[in-house]
This record gives sequence, C-alpha cells and structure tokens, in this order.
Amino acid sequence: MDWRNKHVVVMGGSSGVGEATARRLVSLGARVVITGRDADKLARVAKSLGEQGRGVVVDGADAAAVRAFFAELGAFDHLVVCLSGAEGAGAFRELDLAGLRRGFEAKFWAHLTAVQAALGTLRPDGSVTCVTAISARTAFAGAAGLAAINGALEAMIPPLALELAPLRVNAVSPGVINTPWWEKAPAAQRDAIFATSAATLPVRRVGAPEDVADAIVFVAGNGFMTGTVIECDGGARLV
Ligand SMILES: NC(=O)c1ccc[n+]([C@@H]2O[C@H](COP(=O)([O-])OP(=O)(O)OC[C@H]3O[C@@H](n4cnc5c(N)ncnc54)[C@H](OP(=O)(O)O)[C@@H]3O)[C@@H](O)[C@H]2O)c1
Repeated sequence: MDWRNKHVVVMGGSSGVGEATARRLVSLGARVVITGRDADKLARVAKSLGEQGRGVVVDGADAAAVRAFFAELGAFDHLVVCLSGAEGAGAFRELDLAGLRRGFEAKFWAHLTAVQAALGTLRPDGSVTCVTAISARTAFAGAAGLAAINGALEAMIPPLALELAPLRVNAVSPGVINTPWWEKAPAAQRDAIFATSAATLPVRRVGAPEDVADAIVFVAGNGFMTGTVIECDGGARLV
C-alpha cells in the first residue's frame, strides 16, 4: 500500500494503540484524523503528528456525535477503531453485570456505531480495522466478560467483510499491551499482570503499542486481506 494521499480516520487515536497507529501512518505519508474525548490530550497528540495530523473531539459513545463527525469529514479511505471500555473484567461469581453492560456500550456498541456511521463516506475500496482483544480467543480466568465483548465484535468481522465488499473488514486482536489503558487498573494488579506476562509469554515481554500498530497498518494496507482477525498477543493464546 502506498499510504501517500490516503486519508485515514483513527477513532481513539489520542493514546496507546491508536496514537501509535496514527504516528506510523503519518510516517508513511498518510493524512490522519484522530478522535478522542479529552480535548487537551487530543490537541497535544495531533500537534505532534505535524501537518498530516488533525484531532477532532468526538465521544464514540454518542451515536449522533459520531454520525455528525463523519458527515462533516467527507470522503476518506480507511477507518481504524481503537475505542476502548474499561469495564467488564472480573471473577464471574462477583461480576458486576451492570458494569459489563457499560463495557459493551463503551466498546462493542461504540465500534458498531463508528463503522455504521462511516459507511456513507468511507471509500468502497478502503478498509475497516477494529481492535478487539485476545481475551476473545483464549481462556483467561476473570476475563469472561471481556471475552464476551470482544468475541461479539470478532464474530461480526467475517459476515461484515462479505456484506460490505469490496470494502475490506478486519480486526487486530492484541494481548497485554503497555498503554495508558492500564492506568485504570490498580497499580499492584497491573504490575503483577505485566510481570507474569513477561515471564510466561513465548516472546518474554509485554507488548508495545507499536507492535499492534504494525499489525493494523499491515492488515489495513493489504488489499487481499478481508474477514480476518490477526492475533498480536506475544503468543498469549498458547500458554
Ligand atoms: N492495552 C491492552 O493491554 C489491550 C489489550 C487488548 C485489547 N486492547 C484494546 O485496544 C484498543 C486500544 O486500547 P489502548 O490500550 O490503546 O487504550 P488507551 O491507551 O486507553 O486509548 C484509548 C483511546 O480511545 C479513546 N476513547 C476511549 N473511549 C472513547 C470514547 N467513548 N469516545 C472517543 N474516544 C474514546 C481514548 O481517548 P479519550 O479517553 O480522550 O476519549 C484514547 O485515545 C481498545 O479497544 C482496547 O480494548 C488493549
């Protein structure tokens, strides 16, 4: 893929995986619009992207705002959705089901809203890449809720690829990645998960946002890939 003159939207592009993806795309010559809710954070990252980057404040959970954003944006080539929810994890016996429902709203429904709203202006020879999570493709105790959210999203990738063709639709499924997402977890819990991951993963380290960004740019740029979910997990599903 020659990314020069390509116009890409990264929803959730002001931090972590989305920010790394935006940086990589800009370095390859693409024009990138990043979205997020925190205006200051978004402005800082957009500025650091240079002339090829722009930030637009959009709450991915607000369907009307998302539709208005795409209507105003006009035609573009590729969509990457990195929106995240922080709720839904925990031991199932005590799992707060209302929290899991909010987790679905913040991730599953936010992704679907973004993809549906984008279809009016997304070029038909472009692509959609959703960022899911390896919890959907392996078995971690305490992650049944996250598996449900991300599994629901991943289940839609193949039928959407068929239905929306020639638009390509894929997902990238990350394992444990060191991003600000983990700041929402208690520090001791995060440190323990990172230490265990570094000790037990086949690659012997926690992932970096750039690892996932590479996988996103690869699948979005490969014109022969659609309906796939790429695992970028350091081998987490093997242990
Ligand atoms: N980090 C991991 O270990 C890991 C593992 C598996 C899967 N994932 C998935 O990877 C994706 C990216 O996560 P990350 O780790 O990069 O998280 P992150 O560092 O917290 O970044 C999330 C980005 O999404 C934006 N965002 C979140 N909710 C939003 C909303 N409702 N509307 C608009 N923007 C919103 C955030 O900005 P604002 O807060 O300013 O809105 C930020 O730019 C997520 O789907 C996550 O579930 C992450």
